[in-house]
Amino acid sequence: MMTEDEVVKGAISGNVFENFEIANYTALIAAAEQLNDSESVSIFTRIREQEQAMADWTANHLGNVTKQFLIRSSTPGVEAKK
Ligand SMILES: [Fe+2]
Repeated sequence: MMTEDEVVKGAISGNVFENFEIANYTALIAAAEQLNDSESVSIFTRIREQEQAMADWTANHLGNVTKQFLIRSSTPGVEAKK
């Protein structure tokens, strides 16, 4: 069941998922290195860089999402869940 702070939880979950992806690509890179598969190492490294950029973006916006949620929650007549 979703609670009223679902937007904040969603923002947190987004950051967690991006970091989960980074960990997975780190493992894939190590496996590819072990197999001397330099093409895969290169591909996974590029993807991991994209995941890191997204993780940074989600982390950089989490504080503002939380503050905006709290402001909207305390403002009569304003929907806070959007
Ligand atoms: Fe991602």
